[in-house]
Amino acid sequence: MWCGVVTLFPDMFRSAADAGVLGRAIAGGLVDLQLFNPREFAADRHRTVDDRPYGGGPGMVMMVEPLLAAIAAGRKAARRSGGEQIDAPRVIYLSPQGDPLTQARVETLADLPGLILVAGRYEGVDERVLESAIDEEVSIGDYVLSGGELPALVVLDAVSRLLPGALGNSASALEESHLDGLLDYPHYTRPEIGRSGNTESVVPPVLLSGDHEAIRLWRRRQALLRTWLRRPDMLVGREWSEEDRRLMEEVLNASSH
Ligand code: ADE
Repeated sequence: MWCGVVTLFPDMFRSAADAGVLGRAIAGGLVDLQLFNPREFAADRHRTVDDRPYGGGPGMVMMVEPLLAAIAAGRKAARRSGGEQIDAPRVIYLSPQGDPLTQARVETLADLPGLILVAGRYEGVDERVLESAIDEEVSIGDYVLSGGELPALVVLDAVSRLLPGALGNSASALEESHLDGLLDYPHYTRPEIGRSGNTESVVPPVLLSGDHEAIRLWRRRQALLRTWLRRPDMLVGREWSEEDRRLMEEVLNASSH
């Protein structure tokens, strides 16, 4: 996937691009990450990228011209990178006013050949940039950060780990998609008996049984129970499979005894 990022702080991406799954995806050529700094497209010798808001009020607003020029440079670079058809990369502006980022949206983005993430700073960007150059506005949650860089990195991380070959163990992504809309089940590794806080704790025996079907059912029950206890909102409107319905009933009966 070709991914351009428009940002006044390219260093924030350079360090993240070295580490973990995203780092490996870039090193392995799965993600072609390119950075475009609006400051380099500013017209004056002070390289001004922001100005006071019309109508008054606190803070500064990112100006139209440097941002549009940086986005246009991104589009051009995407086209030049050729290969796949990246003629029209999806341009996404990160902001608390955007549509919520969900795993479903991440999956849609991961299918695109090209993406340009626009990170704002200050109080926001001139509305005319949104009207003329942004396809989609995305929020990573109902809180306000000081810029779009961390949200852009969140999108990049969530998307890149879905690209075929990005995860060392490709079964992880596959298995996770089976958890469709549920929270994850608990995980354990050695030692079999360990300390969790002050209490001696043991690994659930079923995980040591070698009975793959019993393990699968236990994990599914755990995922259902956790979701029911911690995020009941995720179960509203769910299409229940026969098996999930049965397992959920078992779990609720067991916990009410
Ligand atoms: N920029 C500032 N806060 C943000 C948020 N919550 N999501 C996306 N972009 C942002």
